[in-house]
Amino acid sequence: MELRLGADRATDAERAAVDAIVAPAGPVVAATGERFTRGGPHRAHERRHLLLPALQALQQEAGWISPGAINHVAEVLGVPPAEAYGVATFYDLFATEPQPETVVRVCDDIACRLRGTTAIDGALAAEGLGAAARHHSPCLGLCDHGGAALVQRAGAQVRSIAAPAATPPVVEAGAAGPRLLARVGRVDPASLDEYRAQGGYRALARAIEMGPDAVIEAVFASGLRGRGGAAFPTGAKWRAVADEHGRPRHVVANADESEPGTFKDRVLMEGDPFALVESLTIAGLAVGARQGWIYIRGEYPVARSRLEAAIASAREAGLLGADVAGSGAAFDIELRIGAGAYICGEETALFNSMEGFRGEPRSKPPFPTTHGLFGEPTVVNNVETLLNVPAIVLDGADAYRAAGTVESPGTRLFCLSGHVARPGLYEHALGVTVRAVIERAGGVADGRALQAVLLGGAAGTFVGPDDLDVELSFEGTRAAGVALGSGVVMLFDDRVDLHDTLTRLARFFRDESCGQCVPCRVGTQRVVEWLASPGAEHAVLDDLMAVMTDASICGLGQTATSALRSARTAGLALPRRRP
Ligand SMILES: Cc1cc2nc3c(=O)[nH]c(=O)nc-3n(C[C@H](O)[C@H](O)[C@H](O)COP(=O)(O)O)c2cc1C
Ligand code: SF4
Ligand code: FES
Repeated sequence: MELRLGADRATDAERAAVDAIVAPAGPVVAATGERFTRGGPHRAHERRHLLLPALQALQQEAGWISPGAINHVAEVLGVPPAEAYGVATFYDLFATEPQPETVVRVCDDIACRLRGTTAIDGALAAEGLGAAARHHSPCLGLCDHGGAALVQRAGAQVRSIAAPAATPPVVEAGAAGPRLLARVGRVDPASLDEYRAQGGYRALARAIEMGPDAVIEAVFASGLRGRGGAAFPTGAKWRAVADEHGRPRHVVANADESEPGTFKDRVLMEGDPFALVESLTIAGLAVGARQGWIYIRGEYPVARSRLEAAIASAREAGLLGADVAGSGAAFDIELRIGAGAYICGEETALFNSMEGFRGEPRSKPPFPTTHGLFGEPTVVNNVETLLNVPAIVLDGADAYRAAGTVESPGTRLFCLSGHVARPGLYEHALGVTVRAVIERAGGVADGRALQAVLLGGAAGTFVGPDDLDVELSFEGTRAAGVALGSGVVMLFDDRVDLHDTLTRLARFFRDESCGQCVPCRVGTQRVVEWLASPGAEHAVLDDLMAVMTDASICGLGQTATSALRSARTAGLALPRRRP
């Protein structure tokens, strides 16, 4: 491969930052007769997957990624510099121009803009950041607070700041009792001993007794479906990967959680990080993977450091490594940190991102179960999906099915935000109505009238106050033509200008489109323009929406107009027309 290096050279500090990521190719897991290097047993010769962590280290060290640093990382990893530059420029949290020493990214997304910036301005001023350079940011996954910001400072890890809300965020279970949230707020997230004392790691022991086939069978029989948006049966996915005998396999926890209004996975990972480590280990042993990965968005520094600590403790205790909990099987987990790109939550974009390419989705088929990470069979599951597994293994499929509906067994996490009396994360049995979810959270804040509810996220649907009896199950939402998505339930009272909300959503998709295919790249921009033109014809919007939905490569373009379409259908927010 020809490398065209420019004249720019890395500084000593930049070299050291890259070398700290790239150099230690020592064994992570040493199973008998085998040496594992970072990224699994067969990656010794192939180091491009270290590009994202190396760029991360550079950004953190210097506050930007210089041409000399790109040349160095390209040379060390054997990647053409133009490609390394292409990857660096793909991500919002990376800068390829010099930056002020401190940059603050203030969320101006749909939930936070309902509250204005007073609270976050105050929180930033209190931290001495009032005068720091500011950028707007899409949702930071802190929508249950009174405002949110992310602080990037050269030489330090990113830091998130949540402004105090009028009502502190709630973590609460509904009538079915807590399952996923059972330990959140009740266990020390840093303590493996406490996790074990509260039932942790019993499921892994049981899974080892049962053996892989029985575990997959139980997950299949439980009817568990993916909580990341696509609702695919988890057992079927696991079975397909387990059947790929003789090929290296992977399990990936998708913790990219960037759908505006969504913060459930953050709360789970911050409050109960060992649960994700244990669940992913069960998945790995069940499908015969030796390598697990957690891809977490870069905007979640607290969850990241708790997971890092949990993985290290589990390794030390022999719950990860060459002989997991005495099972004779090898399995380890690596954390990968995203860098500000919503599209990287799409599973194939996530693989590209992890492999050191731009986070652009791949065409499907082939599907991840046969051609996933590094082209190898891969299970990718959402964090919440995985956290259902320990209870299924321990109590069996029938007990799991005791909550929820026949088609949608189990419980679901709902992220309540916007004009709701008690914002926070609520666990309910699937099949609960929108009305019950809102009532549990105290109804509309300040006793105002409800104008609309956004269900499922930015790619979701608006419903009006007359549609609150919709059942939140996979079949209930399908029948009603609304989205369950990532469990967003965002309330808008009668004072909100929904046209402003729709415009922010449209800008979000325009900014986050990877630009790979024309219907999405051009269409998302045209929607922004359409919303800004008071006299625009509805027929034009209809054509745009049809082309984007039908012809986009991936879910981003296909669902980018879903909320707008639903708002128009429900007569909620017709764009202003020229008088
Ligand atoms: C644009 C886009 C963004 C996505 N973001 C996420 C995400 O942040 N987290 C997630 O779990 N799934 C996300 N998904 C869905 C994943 O592609 C995939 O279906 C999911 O991780 C599979 O896990 P599950 O079966 O457990 O739901 C996204 C999909 C699209 C199209
Ligand atoms: S639909 Fe949008 S995000 Fe998806 S591949 Fe096409 S341009 Fe990229
Ligand atoms: S953190 Fe601001 S909208 Fe989610």
